[in-house]
Amino acid sequence: MDPRAAPQRGGCVKATATAHANIALIKYWGKANEDLIIPITSSLSLTLDDLFTTTTVDFSSLEPTAADQATLDGATVSGRPLERICGLLDLVRERAGIDQPAKVTSENMVPTAAGLASSASGFAALTGAAAVAAGLELSDRELSRLARRGSGSASRSIFGGLAIWHAGDSDETSFADPVVDHGFAQEISLVVLVLNSGPKAVSSRDGMRRTVDTSPLYESWVAEHAGHLREALAAVADRDLPRLGEAAEANALGMHAAMRAANPPINYMNDASCAALQAVKDARAAGFPAWATMDAGPNVKVLTSTKRAAELEAWLQSRLKDSVPGMDTVVAHAGPGLTVTR
Ligand code: ADP
Ligand code: DP6
Ligand code: CO
Repeated sequence: MDPRAAPQRGGCVKATATAHANIALIKYWGKANEDLIIPITSSLSLTLDDLFTTTTVDFSSLEPTAADQATLDGATVSGRPLERICGLLDLVRERAGIDQPAKVTSENMVPTAAGLASSASGFAALTGAAAVAAGLELSDRELSRLARRGSGSASRSIFGGLAIWHAGDSDETSFADPVVDHGFAQEISLVVLVLNSGPKAVSSRDGMRRTVDTSPLYESWVAEHAGHLREALAAVADRDLPRLGEAAEANALGMHAAMRAANPPINYMNDASCAALQAVKDARAAGFPAWATMDAGPNVKVLTSTKRAAELEAWLQSRLKDSVPGMDTVVAHAGPGLTVTR
């Protein structure tokens, strides 16, 4: 191919995309295929309004022989994070039949690598911007499949509200879809308890590989998972928040048990997380709709009703003010899917 080939179709070389982070209520943790990022389990998530990434991809500003460049929040990206970006750009270039290096500029309105799903919003935004900048016209499903190759959870951030990522068993069959919920996503919210917004010691990628390879509890979590997902989908169809909350909490706590049983153990929970989990139980005993979920990091997200979210946030702040001083909280509602501008 002519190394100077530039994007032609659509006549576009630069695009900016915004994608929102999503939190899984029923989790993805473990890959059946590492290269294609085919998960072992399907997963169900809520895309959030306040946590998002905006990324610009420009295929026109570098010399044809230059390497891809990226900045995140103004800092130059290098090493493994840059390799992951280049990997996704290569897939887009291959598909578009172009060979230009890209300049990538990204801003995370979500803490990076803290278990608050920056890889989901980050790779969904990168995929949207790169595809349009390369002149590709892709369906949401194709964007979901492509975003999945950057980070599995990013497949779900193409869509707003509730999304299900069907595990599938091939590149073609592993993608997310919006869940038909007749407005239920607007009725639920997450109170995010930010206990530590610093980067985690073990990335999601490494943590899930170690769990699959070494944890004796992994198989039993997978065996329970199908029932959790079935329950959660039935709960969404019935607009039954308690039923959804119970399935979500059981699924997340089971995942963390499996992580801790890995060798060497992976423990994303710290003392503040344990205090927060206890406070969620106490909130429930006090009559709040409140169920906890946690990802690969110490932060706790509390599923509740949109109606009572602000009241629950204040209650949890007061409950945890001595045991977790300096805790930040955010009430996150259902957010929109990917948007791209030229
Ligand atoms: P998180 O819990 O934040 O999703 P992960 O361990 O899954 O943590 O992923 C963190 C990695 O995601 C970062 O090290 C980086 O490689 C990638 N990432 C985060 N934000 C972006 C972004 N805006 N653009 C590209 N890659 C990103
Ligand atoms: C615990 O999608 O970040 O948040 O595919 O390796 O990039 P990679 O991992 P990632 O894993 C997310 C794990 C989780 C659960 C979930 O979001 O479903
Ligand atoms: Co991630």
